[in-house]
Amino acid sequence: MSEIYRASTTAPVNIAVIKYWGKRDPSLNLPTNSSLSVTLSQSDLRTHTTASCSPTYNSDSLLLNGSPQDTSGSRTQACFRELRSLRSELEKSDASLPKLSTQKLKIVSENNFPTAAGLASSAAGFAALVRAIADLYQLTATPTELSRIARQGSGSACRSLFGGYVSWEMGSAADGSDSLATEVAPSSHWPNIRAIILVASSAKKGVSSTSGMQQTVATSELFSHRAKVLVPERMTKMKDAIKRKDFAAFAELTMRDSNGFHATCADTYPPIFYLNDTSRAAIRVVENINAAAGRSIAAYTFDAGPNAVVYYLAEDEGAVAGVFKGFLGEKEGWGSERGGKVKVVEGKDLD
Ligand code: PMV
Repeated sequence: MSEIYRASTTAPVNIAVIKYWGKRDPSLNLPTNSSLSVTLSQSDLRTHTTASCSPTYNSDSLLLNGSPQDTSGSRTQACFRELRSLRSELEKSDASLPKLSTQKLKIVSENNFPTAAGLASSAAGFAALVRAIADLYQLTATPTELSRIARQGSGSACRSLFGGYVSWEMGSAADGSDSLATEVAPSSHWPNIRAIILVASSAKKGVSSTSGMQQTVATSELFSHRAKVLVPERMTKMKDAIKRKDFAAFAELTMRDSNGFHATCADTYPPIFYLNDTSRAAIRVVENINAAAGRSIAAYTFDAGPNAVVYYLAEDEGAVAGVFKGFLGEKEGWGSERGGKVKVVEGKDLD
């Protein structure tokens, strides 16, 4: 009987506070700007993945929440190829190792959050896929080294290889060897950050991040100022705000960067609008919360879709999550374990 080799891991969702938006090399997912994210709690929003290989498998396969996925796409193939090549080097250096690099792979992934909720699940998905195969192959690569591979699956996935506060430095090499994720600070440095996720629409997003980025790079006149001037300044200020645990500075940078990113989307020709009326209502609620507090105690941010992620500190739970829950009543929902379980139904007015 042929042996089956197997390894399992989990990777959490990360939500950027300085957004990645624009590719300078679409095939390698090399970005036009660096980005920075907060990784959500492992125990809440995460992908669990098991990777196995066996001489009896006839083809590579990937099952996500029970449904077969196409593995022939260039992104999944790039991850498989890079990981197999690292395993093959190991096998060459130690002849006693089983020849796993030539066997087909079976990947089984489960998200513990609804994929249909429109949250970027590809970040946790590719990070878990890469780490599970790296563990299966017993690679000694560090998370930063693995981030180079996960980036090729989905850009933002490179940041989900770390917990806490993570930057993805854009790098300058044409082969992407220096476009890597690194830890800015572990979650223990500033552990009381919380997030609630407001699901403004669970519909699949209209314009994918890949085509949205392509259209922005090609047609937005604001884009280059954002990528070349604003984001580099914000990266420096955001790292400093995290080091100093300065929530007001963190909040202003987060909200300005989300607004600026969506402004470049609106500036494409034709324009792209990811936010809807519920998203804009969530922005007003955050502004009212901050005005009532007399300082920024809540920060919204939006990815390429209408759902809001609102960051706040645990000590302000009542004044932030409590206010949103007050608006929403007892609606069934979910969110980061670090925050309340809040869900907004589509079209629900917050004001
Ligand atoms: O990793 P992708 O290709 O799904 O792009 C993610 C883009 C944003 O979520 C909007 C920003 C980010 O930095 O995560």
